[in-house]
Amino acid sequence: LSMSLSLTLSLSLSLSLLFVCCNEAHGLRLLQQQRCGVFASVKSRAVNQLKMRRVNCNLLLFYAILSWQSLFVCCNEAHGLRLLQQQRCGVFASVKVTNGREVRLASRPWMALLRLRYAGEEGFHCAGTLITDRFVLTAAHCVAPFELVYVRLGEHNLSTDTDCKVTGKRTMCVPPVEDVGVAAVYKHEEYSSAAKHNDIALIKLERQVEFKKHIKPICLPIGVEASQSFVVTGWGITENGTAVDVPREAAIELQARQTCAHTFDRIVKQSQLCAGATASDSCRGDSGGPLSYPAVYATRQRFVQFGIVSYGARDCGNGYPADYTDVASYLPWITGIIGANSSKD
Ligand SMILES: *[C@@H]1O[C@H](CO)[C@@H](O)[C@H](O)[C@H]1NC(C)=O
Ligand SMILES: *[C@@H]1O[C@H](CO)[C@@H](O)[C@H](O)[C@H]1NC(C)=O
Ligand SMILES: *[C@@H]1O[C@H](CO)[C@@H](O)[C@H](O)[C@H]1NC(C)=O
Repeated sequence: LSMSLSLTLSLSLSLSLLFVCCNEAHGLRLLQQQRCGVFASVKSRAVNQLKMRRVNCNLLLFYAILSWQSLFVCCNEAHGLRLLQQQRCGVFASVKVTNGREVRLASRPWMALLRLRYAGEEGFHCAGTLITDRFVLTAAHCVAPFELVYVRLGEHNLSTDTDCKVTGKRTMCVPPVEDVGVAAVYKHEEYSSAAKHNDIALIKLERQVEFKKHIKPICLPIGVEASQSFVVTGWGITENGTAVDVPREAAIELQARQTCAHTFDRIVKQSQLCAGATASDSCRGDSGGPLSYPAVYATRQRFVQFGIVSYGARDCGNGYPADYTDVASYLPWITGIIGANSSKD
């Protein structure tokens, strides 16, 4: 009797484990199915300063197995998918550059703007990134005390209705922006506004968005080697408004966590990244916006989001560091929510 009892117990235990993990696996699958991180141009000075490194296949595979070990145990589908994804690694595209830090039209199509209402006033006070056709990733501090009115996708120049690019005699215009309503907001359960820990949130959009030239998702660091170099992209949005019409990009480098701990006199956890500009470049990041890098993802060079702008970014020029939420640390949280809140067909 006791043997069958323990058998039943362990069976129901592994079943519930399977259920929890399968939500994560389902979310992972949804993320992997997106044609994410596709970009029109990396021709900015910021990216010029960064050098693409050849990815070590063994290291990549090792990292993948290590970080998704729990999924391998729970869901074979995820394992097979991941192994397939690891084929043909080490291939990378060349990075061409031109002058100017301005982001080209439709070249960072995952940039989202959050329309927030607070104390009767409404405006774009934070950014986010499209990660699937239904979810936007942002910082918890962007959605905590505010009412999220809608999410704007496909924006470029905030001062114009229709965004166009003129090259010689040709004029190329992108479709209009899309303001999408919000179905649900998932703020991290352990977000602390005082300590600024677990500063991450997901927004479920009211409808599926159709990917277009100017609306596409960014990749998350799944099976991607950690990076030391990043770009921070944005309009420079703070509570006082925006700094520029058109998003800009600045190169920044990873710094020791102690640097941020000293600068802000706060505890900086393993799930946070500290990074800052090395040159006198000012950071144009927005709260909730991405810290990214054109890394090798599933054998292609893709934009991968490594961090979320958390705090300190407004002054991060002149070597001043800023704190970012480390996206890789929250992959189980992200895939768990996406998996649990998406239909399974
Ligand atoms: C954005 O649009 C405004 C209004 O048309 C224009 O004056 C400005 O130059 C544009 N900004 C950029 C960077 O193209
Ligand atoms: C916003 O404006 C207020 C009042 O002018 C100022 O104290 C604050 O530092 C500004 N915030 C930013 C991020 O510039
Ligand atoms: C959404 O995901 C959360 C976290 O996994 C879960 O607690 C919640 O029940 C899900 N909501 C729905 C409607 O399934």
